[in-house]
Amino acid sequence: MDFRMSVAEAISAQTELAAAEVAELLEVPKNAEMGDLAFPCFRLAKVLRKAPPAIAAELASSITLPEGVKSAVATGAYVNFTFDPAAESRSVIERIYAEGARYGGSDFGAGRHVCIDYSSVNIAKPMHMGHLPSTVIGNALYRIYRHMGFTPVGINHLGDWGTQFGKMIWAYKAWGDRATIEQGGVDELVKLYVRFHQEATPEMEDEARAWFKKIEDNDPEAMKLFTWFKEITLKEVHEIYELMGIHFDSWAGESFYNDKMGRVVDELREKNLLKLDQGAQIVDLADYKMPPCIILRSDGATLYATRDIAAAFYRKDTYDFYKCLYVVATQQNLHFRQWFKVVELMGHEWAKDLEHVAFGMVSGKDGAFSTRAGNMVKLRDVLTAAIEKTRAIMLEKSPNLENPDKVARDVGVGALVWNSLYNGRIKDVVFDWDTVLNFDGETGPYVQYTHARACSVLRKQQPEGEADYSLLTDAESRELIGELAAFPDAVKEAMEKNEPYLVSRRVMAIAQSFNRFYYQQRIMADDAALRNARLTLTDATRRVLAIGLDLVGLAAPERM
Ligand code: ARG
Repeated sequence: MDFRMSVAEAISAQTELAAAEVAELLEVPKNAEMGDLAFPCFRLAKVLRKAPPAIAAELASSITLPEGVKSAVATGAYVNFTFDPAAESRSVIERIYAEGARYGGSDFGAGRHVCIDYSSVNIAKPMHMGHLPSTVIGNALYRIYRHMGFTPVGINHLGDWGTQFGKMIWAYKAWGDRATIEQGGVDELVKLYVRFHQEATPEMEDEARAWFKKIEDNDPEAMKLFTWFKEITLKEVHEIYELMGIHFDSWAGESFYNDKMGRVVDELREKNLLKLDQGAQIVDLADYKMPPCIILRSDGATLYATRDIAAAFYRKDTYDFYKCLYVVATQQNLHFRQWFKVVELMGHEWAKDLEHVAFGMVSGKDGAFSTRAGNMVKLRDVLTAAIEKTRAIMLEKSPNLENPDKVARDVGVGALVWNSLYNGRIKDVVFDWDTVLNFDGETGPYVQYTHARACSVLRKQQPEGEADYSLLTDAESRELIGELAAFPDAVKEAMEKNEPYLVSRRVMAIAQSFNRFYYQQRIMADDAALRNARLTLTDATRRVLAIGLDLVGLAAPERM
């Protein structure tokens, strides 16, 4: 049993509080000299109508210390517990071995679905740097929720609907060439679209609208072209996801909801929420200080928001989600606030389970990625550059590497991914090659490198049998064990706040702590028992680093 639970049970035995409740209240003191775990007595003070310090003093003297806990001391309103270091090391490391790949996880989410809408690319448009945060944050959340026992549903809500596809067909028929597009892919589609806009006349616009109407009416020729544009785009998108190890369970995009919006409109009408405004059907949100949510345009066409509402209903029906997350840039804050409010006004209590997981912008040090400046840097180009640059570094650092292509890929992608996962989501990310690829900085490659270092130590010798934990009392070992012990809480908190960076930060702390241990304490000590204890700690660290890297979507190569 872990220490938190045994302390919680000992406190529970002396008080009116349930052990689970106590476990929630227990804190790790900021100052390590205060002890390893602290229990604040404020909650009990309310129940017992006594001053917290008096309660703390009584509790400290009456409590039966669980095995492995050395002391319980009252300090102000807190009871501070200090563990026996050897017992704590044993408990932490044994738990890491016992739980294996599940370490830091739980079955909290068992039997529940979490829908995660991320990346959600647009057809006939290139994936650019602006898609990176959504893709990697969504992917990390997917893995974190899965670790917490949920069944995540990764959804790519494709942008595959809108009048632009009528224009695309017009342009293709006028100027396009099949072979060129098969060859050049999305770039060629974009060229056609741009040319349409440059040369557009009112007649062209009318004809394009007619083509879009044909898509809506399922006309075979229009559908064939539209489907082909989709295939061309998805082929490229799949290559990028494959490179990054990103997976989706559903590709139901905007067009999937074409026949699923009627019921939304009917229900809105029945509930008297629709209002006619200059020919359009809207939901008035003035009471909530927001502009109206437009449901149907005056020509009867549906909008982005209408499709999102229909998609939310569909997801609720299909998955009965515990939560439905939308990993989308802050620019769309208003859009989500508006239609979440509409679902709430329709009287669906699950509106509270819809959550916009917003994030800031990625911009280059020199502004190069700024979408505000209209400057689209293609994600594929950045990925390719990251892999190439990493390969160059690798060849210099480890010229004899067996599998340089695979490692350059894992580490190059890791560098890029980590950059979007190391700060709170809302913070804008500044992208700078030197920072991203610095193997000694707070980067993905640094953690990957640390993991590979631990693997390399273990290739020399594996730990064997039970370690003598009383030998792990030096400051570096103690600190490292503390970091490993804190990992499960970081995963749980990352899930609660939808903030994967809480895992990345913890993983970084473990890596830094391991490197201090590595440099200060000779792992391959002459004394066999000491060596075995240190190898055991190294092995436990390797395991947790691999889990942590996996949770944020980075590969953990064994050699670098
Ligand atoms: N395709 C949209 C865009 O690129 C993002 C879609 C986000 N998901 C959603 N359900 N609205 O802006």
